[in-house]
Amino acid sequence: MKIGIVIGSVRDGRKGESVAAWVQEQAAGRERDGETVELELIDLKSFDVPLLEWETIPGAAKKQYPHESVHAWSAAVDACDGFVLVTPEYNHSVPGALKNAVDWLYPEWQGKAAALVSYGAESGVRAVEHWRQILANFSMVVVRQQVSLSGFDEFDGAQVRPNDRRAGELETLLDQLEEAVARQG
Ligand SMILES: Cc1cc2nc3c(=O)[nH]c(=O)nc-3n(C[C@H](O)[C@H](O)[C@H](O)COP(=O)(O)O)c2cc1C
Repeated sequence: MKIGIVIGSVRDGRKGESVAAWVQEQAAGRERDGETVELELIDLKSFDVPLLEWETIPGAAKKQYPHESVHAWSAAVDACDGFVLVTPEYNHSVPGALKNAVDWLYPEWQGKAAALVSYGAESGVRAVEHWRQILANFSMVVVRQQVSLSGFDEFDGAQVRPNDRRAGELETLLDQLEEAVARQG
């Protein structure tokens, strides 16, 4: 089982990097049915995915894209069975760069499982609710448990300092995600 931890912000000085590192650290060494759950850090910034300007609807593209960067992004997503999306909230919704990158693909997401870790002034909960609607279009299963970190109280600059209860929330999120991946087959 391979879980992709997606850093959903591409800004310089982003908080998302430290949140994803915390998720990766907490998830390391987990086992499912006697096998180690593989983790892949998928840093959106490193792919340089362009704005979706292509005429072809991605769902009809058969994974053949007009840019090398999109092929690399497609391969990274395709290789995973489930995802933890680490998402900030921008203007009461999802971050545009990640939405654009999500829009570029279709079969790579289809029917897979996902979980959401958010952060922001209101802990990113509006972004999470919007992601739940968006990911439903790929028939993805998004687990109930989420981890929503307060941008005011749980960061020291760009470095996340999660409250004590977050480790338990993240464990439940990972349990639910692995269960959903297993069910999706
Ligand atoms: C364009 C933009 C819009 C934002 N809008 C919101 C918002 O609606 N709600 C919120 O809680 N924080 C908002 N913020 C603040 C972000 O939560 C904060 O900047 C956070 O650090 C962004 O995550 P990042 O550093 O990983 O990119 C916004 C930030 C940006 C750059």
